[in-house]
Amino acid sequence: MNQRPQVYVTRLIPEAGLTMIRDRCDARVWEEELPPPKDVILEQVSDCEGLLCLLSEDVDGEVMDAGDLRVISQFAVGVDNIDLEAATQRGIPVGHTPGVLTDATADLTFALLMAAARRIPEAIDKVRSGEWRTWEPRGLLGADVWQATLGIVGLGRIGTAVARRARGFEMDILYNDPNRSIEVEEELGIVYASLDTLLERADFVTVHTPLVDETRHLIDRAALQRMKPTAVLVNAARGGIVETDALVEALEEGWIAQAALDVTDPEPLPADHPLVGMANCIVVPHIGSATTTARNRMAEMAAENLLAGLAGRTLPYCANPQVYESETR
Ligand code: DGY
Repeated sequence: MNQRPQVYVTRLIPEAGLTMIRDRCDARVWEEELPPPKDVILEQVSDCEGLLCLLSEDVDGEVMDAGDLRVISQFAVGVDNIDLEAATQRGIPVGHTPGVLTDATADLTFALLMAAARRIPEAIDKVRSGEWRTWEPRGLLGADVWQATLGIVGLGRIGTAVARRARGFEMDILYNDPNRSIEVEEELGIVYASLDTLLERADFVTVHTPLVDETRHLIDRAALQRMKPTAVLVNAARGGIVETDALVEALEEGWIAQAALDVTDPEPLPADHPLVGMANCIVVPHIGSATTTARNRMAEMAAENLLAGLAGRTLPYCANPQVYESETR
């Protein structure tokens, strides 16, 4: 008798995780570059007990009801693509991968901040296009990072890791978060500020909140208009936190100087989108966690969550722990 659970994996994740899954389960893996269409997911989960998905999949109640899912395991820390409430109502635990991509994402945030400050993409373009003719006393002047003021929106794991990096640059660090942390303030010498004050004072604003109802369009027209005309906005969290049309206007009208985005709304951003063509906007394709180490650990954690859920054990990294209190289970 075949006791191995059926699972659907919506993309080729690193081998470290896939091997763990294939050892214990009958896994069907979507091997295409682009995400599986919704109707494929609905069909594929119909005989599955486990789903391992990515942030590009919309996992709603319809998907949950299409099979007899006992666990959903997300290959990411952010779970805004999954209807957590619907999962909890159905007694389905949702796994995610916190912690292991913190430093990779904080590094990328800093890389974007510095690339914008020192206009690195424009400088590279200049060399590649053959326009580099001489040393220019007035050319490609950027902003100092050293001892500038940084405003961190969202002081979770990644925001805190960015603060640690910023200390090395002797930055004055302000942060805003629904939960004030005196401990981190004392440890890192950072200062709590209201969002308005942070936006008004920071030379660099980096965004690290999860995308939830309260943070959707947190950085809207009014917020962008509060920022300094010399300021740089870095978003390495989720595109929906920044109001895209307002950002286009802000960059065109000079409300802020530059933006550097690892995430966008929509995502991916079409190649002909105004933000892609702007000299004062850097866009990279959601690569915050894209280091070999981080992605391998994410794959292992996603597999651990999947296997725990299939075995009826509590997920080691659960995004909806209330599911274990729920009566529906
Ligand atoms: C996440 O994990 O949420 C990142 O956005 C992708 O790794």
